[in-house]
Amino acid sequence: MPVITEIEDLKRIYKRRVPRMFYDYCESGSWTEQTFRENSSDFDDLYLRQRVAIDMTGRSTATQLIGQDVAMPVALAPVGLTGMQHADGEILAAKAAETFGVPYTLSTMSICSIEDVAEHTSKPFWLQVYTLKDDDFMQRLFDRAKDAKCSAAVITVDLQMLGQRHKDIKNGLSAPPKLTARSILDMSWRVAWGLEMLQTKRRFFGNIVGHAAGVDDPSSLSTWTAESFDQALNWDRIREFRKMWDGPLIIKGILDPRDALEALNVGADAIVVSNHGGRQLDGALSSIRALGPIMDAVGDRIEVHLDSGVRSGQDVLKAVAMGAKGCWIGRAYIYGLGAMGEKGVSEALRVIHKELDTSMGLCGRTDINAVNRDILMVPKGFSGDWEE
Ligand code: GLV
Repeated sequence: MPVITEIEDLKRIYKRRVPRMFYDYCESGSWTEQTFRENSSDFDDLYLRQRVAIDMTGRSTATQLIGQDVAMPVALAPVGLTGMQHADGEILAAKAAETFGVPYTLSTMSICSIEDVAEHTSKPFWLQVYTLKDDDFMQRLFDRAKDAKCSAAVITVDLQMLGQRHKDIKNGLSAPPKLTARSILDMSWRVAWGLEMLQTKRRFFGNIVGHAAGVDDPSSLSTWTAESFDQALNWDRIREFRKMWDGPLIIKGILDPRDALEALNVGADAIVVSNHGGRQLDGALSSIRALGPIMDAVGDRIEVHLDSGVRSGQDVLKAVAMGAKGCWIGRAYIYGLGAMGEKGVSEALRVIHKELDTSMGLCGRTDINAVNRDILMVPKGFSGDWEE
């Protein structure tokens, strides 16, 4: 096995192994990709304060996310089509998360179904749901999550319609891939991926096919979102979803303090500060810049998590120092999954944990729960000094 020391190592292998259509799906932002790029590069504007001659033995990154014990403040984010990045991808990622001791979030747009993942894991996972027009389908999703003993539901509120990612349109993204001369040629290079894919039956959107009525082409993400997603969504409707699910509820896709307060009022247990990995509103603020004002607005009245742009343990440490209780990673573990299946997801978690643990120690801290803004140098105006 190649020596993996950083997330980029996994990305290089991933790029060679997985058909271009799915690599592009993962690695794209919407339109000009400004927000996609800045999600990561804005972390570089925050500096960590090095401290020395402080006893750094006995370090711990263990904490809790929504009251659940975790080995580090990281959760695996919901990622659509994960089972196209590697055969049975959602099951493998959930297993790696379980072994490491961090939560796994299954996307509604997964290939393996809720029931598939529940059957192959022994710890509860979280289920992400989109806000769809079809109430029966929504209720059924929550009921299926309950039957599968999911320990939280995550409602994604920033995808009432799909942000345009040029490459997905040009590649004709679908699950399973449509057979065109271009896709056949591309897949013929990805022998290991193809052989593993032939050995699984899970090649369709497992939570949708056979469950959602009136969807003309369930293999196409763009068709399904255009037909089924609720563009008329408002906070009253989110209140109705809150009633459909009586377990812990996380609202994902908050970038503005006013929306954070709405989520608090709806009775969510946590919010995720997120711009959907830069895949929705291009030109929006990076999540790490948006975090500060949201923390100021909600204080400790609700748990705040962050995703988008997190590729290292240093990023996790910076987000925690800015006030987040934890970070969600998406692409960082998908690189690992595509590169080497369950082992690759474990490697991604190992790399991030090591970076987090070492950086925390070098900042003179031994307990992640005691990390605060004091370890950071934040440039003036980092979170904006915007005109009203
Ligand atoms: C779905 O959530 C996507 O970003 O493609």
